[in-house]
Amino acid sequence: MIQRVRKAIFPVGGLGTRFLPATKSMPKEMLPVVDKPLIQYAVEEARAAGIEEFIFVTGRGKSAIEDHFDHSYELAATLNERGKQKELQAIRETLPEPGQVAYTRQQEPLGLGHAVWCARHMVMNEPVAVLLADDLILAEVPCLKQMVEAYERLGGNMVAVMDVPRPQTAAYGVVAPGRRDGRLVEVKGLVEKPKPEAAPSTYAVIGRYILQPRVFEHLGRLERGAGNEIQLTDAMARIIGDGPFHGYDFAGRRFDCGTRVGFLEANVAFALGRPDMRDRVKEFLKNYA
Ligand code: G1P
Repeated sequence: MIQRVRKAIFPVGGLGTRFLPATKSMPKEMLPVVDKPLIQYAVEEARAAGIEEFIFVTGRGKSAIEDHFDHSYELAATLNERGKQKELQAIRETLPEPGQVAYTRQQEPLGLGHAVWCARHMVMNEPVAVLLADDLILAEVPCLKQMVEAYERLGGNMVAVMDVPRPQTAAYGVVAPGRRDGRLVEVKGLVEKPKPEAAPSTYAVIGRYILQPRVFEHLGRLERGAGNEIQLTDAMARIIGDGPFHGYDFAGRRFDCGTRVGFLEANVAFALGRPDMRDRVKEFLKNYA
């Protein structure tokens, strides 16, 4: 029987050094694309895919994220007084239902695998989605929803993949592919950040995962991998034989909001997607061509 994916992990413990000084006292996941923080895009994508429990793995200095997903009584009262119904609606939309959100802390920055492992007791014995808020995906059908639909037919493990130029493989987890069938690619191996000449393909793993709980057993060994970090990719590589494991070549455009240029491009692309801004943004962009 294929168990439904009800829970999602959001690793948000990273330091965001690339965005200093902006991230000195603010989590990088709170950086806005147009008018919404990155983390909210990720949470909304998860919700659209049917996720009911949102598990944040945070770190020091991340309390703004908890506040963001909480009631802001004063703000709501003031907006109400001033008759700002649209704005009121926008902040209501950030609110998960009571008890749907849980937080745990990654006490040391030991890598993505370690962050995911920190959530093990909240996931227990069921499949779980992992979403990296840095990877922002503009899509007609939200990326995780596309994956959940495929997962409900296939079960097993699944990662989002994207074809990248070969010189970029060292920035990603890379799939050793088997058969391809439509958007699905059989995963036969996974390597974290291989040099271009050693990469088994140019299918890069993008930050959306559906994982079976057995991955926690391997993460629990706390073995170090690339960059001396505990890598999620290495633990996933160990469960490849367990059952189906697919890469999902999603429909949509992904922006690497972990880099400044990617983040800037996301802002432009999302603004151009907004009917209330599109024309004026197009107009001023002409000045920079
Ligand atoms: C992480 C993962 C990597 C994946 C990437 C996607 O790397 O370790 O496998 O391809 O996210 O964005 P990071 O970007 O944290 O170095």
